[in-house]
Formats: sequence, structure tokens, C-alpha cells
Amino acid sequence: MKEHACHSSCASHTHGAHDSPQHPQSPQSSHSSSHSSVHPPSPPTAAAHAAAAVADPAGRRRFLKSLGASSLAGASAAWLPNAHAQTTAGNALANAGTAAPVDGEPLTLTVNGQRRALHVAPNAILLDVLRDQLQLTGTKKGCDHGQCGACTVHVNGISINSCLSLALMHEGDAITTIEGLARGDTLHPVQAAFWEHDAYQCGYCTSGQIMSAVAILADKRIGHDDAAVREAMSGNICRCGAYRNILAAIQDARSRMGG
Ligand code: FES
Ligand code: FES
Repeated sequence: MKEHACHSSCASHTHGAHDSPQHPQSPQSSHSSSHSSVHPPSPPTAAAHAAAAVADPAGRRRFLKSLGASSLAGASAAWLPNAHAQTTAGNALANAGTAAPVDGEPLTLTVNGQRRALHVAPNAILLDVLRDQLQLTGTKKGCDHGQCGACTVHVNGISINSCLSLALMHEGDAITTIEGLARGDTLHPVQAAFWEHDAYQCGYCTSGQIMSAVAILADKRIGHDDAAVREAMSGNICRCGAYRNILAAIQDARSRMGG
């Protein structure tokens, strides 16, 4: 039958109880039909709702959902009339806890050398997962459209714009963020060179610049001259215009790394 639009915790709504002029738990149910036409049925009590709910599994789920597990835990002893009913409600509460759905799809990544088992929405973006779920906020969101490079990370050693990549596409991948470059207190040579060459002003683009620079220095296909480095770094925008010092830092890091 069609479900009532009234109070959702009334589990008897879907079982036709309200089709009768008398509620099954009402004192009016022991009266004659002529009495029932004179006296309107009493409103159902809280105990009546609880008893109806625990007797029917579907009703029990709606009952728990409408109340919330915590409020039921505190109130059940006062509402339910006997130990059996209380035990049944307790079991329902336990089942509700174990059956709680986990939000999102499973995803396993290795991030900065650590295996991370996550659940993410099907449309979750890698950048947002790194920043919001793993709290790796060194990777920045600039344009969020693949045009500034602030979100650059390495996936299996290749630099990508993480703002353009669905997280679920990276099942099993090894991700490196700016937090994963240093070894303890020892900066990566590119980080150290950026520091020494003052290759930043506000610093917002810096983590993306460094991640791209590390990938470029490891890529044998990219030339060593300044023009080749500028071209390779062209996907990383610096609003502060620190390009000259960024280039100097990259070339210095190359010599430190023996390249
Ligand atoms: S935030 Fe990803 S390219 Fe700008
Ligand atoms: S240092 Fe400010 S945007 Fe590059």
C-alpha cells in the first residue's frame, strides 16, 4: 500500500494498521464497533511504535533510521516493555552498525612510499584526494583547469597535473608529492637550489615548479640548455615572475646531481 506522508517513525504505516478505524495498540480496540464510531481512536503511544517496529525487520530499519542509533541506545530501556524487546532492539542496533555502508569506491595508492587504502567518490579528483583526504596540502590548487601547474605531482615517476586526473584511475599507482621529496631533514637537491637561489616570492607555485623540475632533470629526452628547460617548464606559471631564479635553481640542481 502507499506509505503515509505523516511521521516517518510510525512503522505500522506500511502494513495497513491505519486502514482500520482503530489502532491495534489503542485501548479502543477492546470496545464494540459502535463505541469506536463515537470515540475517536487514541493516538498510538511511543511503546506501540517501538513494539511494531521491533516486530518487523523493515519497520525496524525505518525506526532506527528515523531516530538515529545514539538516541535509540539511550531511550530503548524506557520505551520497550520487556527484556526480549530490548534485546531485539539491541540486536537491531548492532546490525545497523555493522551494515553501515562505506562511502565511495575502494582505492589503494602508494603515496610518498606509504600504502594508503581509501574510499573515494567515483568523480573524485586526485588533487582533492591528496589535499582533503590525505592532508598533503603542499600540492596547490591554482587554476583547477590544467593551465598553471601548481598541482603537479609524480605518478610512477611521470609529472602530471593532478587537478585533471580522476583518483580512481590511479589504482595501485605510486604517487609522489612535494612532501615526499626530502629525506628526513635533508632537502632534495632541487628544493635546496630553489632555497638558495631565492626562486620564489609568494611560494604558491613553488611546489609545482619543484615537482616539474625534478621530473625534467630525470628525463633524458630534454636538453640541458636554458631554452630547453624553459620550454619544458612552460606548463608551470609563476604569477610573481620568479622565472629567472627558477631557471638558475634548476640548472644549479642539475650540476649538483651530476647531470
Ligand atoms: S591547478 Fe592544476 S594546472 Fe592549475
Ligand atoms: S612565487 Fe608566487 S606565483 Fe610563483
